[in-house]
Amino acid sequence: MKLVEPIIAFQSELQQIRRDLHAHPELCYEEQRTSDVVAAKLGEWGIPVVRGLGQTGLVGIIKNGSSERAIGLRADMDALPMQELNTFPHASRHPGKMHACGHDGHMAMLLGAAHHLASHRNFDGTVYLVFQPAEEGGAGARRMIEDGLFERFPMEAIYGMHNWPGAAAGTLSVREGPMMASSNEFHVTVKGKGAHAAQPHKGIDPIMIAVQIAQAWQTIVSRSKSPLDTAVLSITQIHAGSATNVIPDEARMVGTVRTFTTPVLDMIEQRMRLLAGNIAAGFDAEVDFVFKRNYPPLVNHAKETAFAVEVMQAVVGPDKVDADVEPTMGAEDFAFFLQKKPGCYIFIGNGDGEHRDGGHGLGPCVLHNGSYDFNDNLLPIGASFWVHLAETALPRS
Ligand code: NI
Repeated sequence: MKLVEPIIAFQSELQQIRRDLHAHPELCYEEQRTSDVVAAKLGEWGIPVVRGLGQTGLVGIIKNGSSERAIGLRADMDALPMQELNTFPHASRHPGKMHACGHDGHMAMLLGAAHHLASHRNFDGTVYLVFQPAEEGGAGARRMIEDGLFERFPMEAIYGMHNWPGAAAGTLSVREGPMMASSNEFHVTVKGKGAHAAQPHKGIDPIMIAVQIAQAWQTIVSRSKSPLDTAVLSITQIHAGSATNVIPDEARMVGTVRTFTTPVLDMIEQRMRLLAGNIAAGFDAEVDFVFKRNYPPLVNHAKETAFAVEVMQAVVGPDKVDADVEPTMGAEDFAFFLQKKPGCYIFIGNGDGEHRDGGHGLGPCVLHNGSYDFNDNLLPIGASFWVHLAETALPRS
C-alpha cells in the first residue's frame, strides 16, 4: 500500500471532521451546516470556494502551475430520513436523520485530499472539489449541472467514490460500462366501480384488475426482455379498499423499475403501459399510468476507468483492486455527471462492520441500515487515492 504520508499523519483530524458530520446529518437540500463546515475547512486551508450550486452544494478550487487542464473530484453530502440505532458518542443528534450511506466519510476523504493538494501543490492544472447535495433521491448532481457546474468550472473528467460494505476494508473496485442501474418509479391507479361485496356484478372490481396487471407485468422481465439484459420490476405497494364488505372504486400500485440501458427501460415502460391499459379496458375499467425516470444508469467511461484502475493499483496494490466488479441494481445520481463528462465512479470496501465503536446497533453494517457506520480506517486510503489520481492526471512537466 502506497498511502500519502502526510495524510496518514492527518488521519485523526479527518476522523474528527467525519464524526462531527456524522453527528449532524442533514437531508436533501438542507445541508446548510454541512456546507458551512466544508466551506470553513477549505477556507482555513486557503482554498477558494464557490457556494450555492444546487442550493447547498459547493465547489472548492485548487489551481497550481500554468496548465489549463482540470479534473473534478466529487463527494456527496446528504443523509437519510431514518433513525440511527448506534449510541456511540458520534451518533446522530438529529432524531430521524442519519448518515447511513457514509456520505460523511466521502466528504472527509475529499477534504483530506484537498488539504494535501493545497499544501503540497505537486500537480499542474486545476482540481475542482465538487461537494454535491441531495444524492438520496433529490438529483443534486443534476441541479449542480443546471446551475452551470461544467460551464463555470470546465473540467476534462470527473470522478466519484462510494464506500461499499461487505467488500474488504480498503479494497478498491470498479468496472467499465454500466456499473449501477437506472432508477425509475411508477404510480398506477386502476379506476373501477365500487359496489357491495355481496353483489360484485353491480360494480367493476379494481382489485382483481390490479392483481392481473401485476402478474402480467412480471412477464415483461421473463418474456419480453432478452435473457442477456438485466432488469428488475418490483411492485412495492398495493392499496385498495377499507372494509370487508365493500368493493372499492380504485386500486393503486406503485413500485420501481431498474435497468442498465435506456432501450431496455423504454421497452419496459411501453409494455407496462400497454398491458395496464388493455387489461383494464378488457374489464371496462380505466387506468392512470404515471412513470417517472429518476436516475439514469451509471456508465463508466473506458479511458477514465482504465486510468483509475492504474491509480488504484498504485495506491493499494493490484491484489486489492477488482477492475471487473459485479454491477449493482442500486442507483446513484453521479450518473448525471457521467452523461455530460467522461469519468468514472469507484467503490471503496467498507469491511464487514468490525470497525464500529462500542455502542453500535445490533443490525448489520450495511448501507441504509440504522446500525451502519463509515469505516474511519478508509480515510487515509480514499484521500490518498484522490491525491494520486489528481497528481497523475495533472502531472507537472
Ligand atoms: Ni450513498
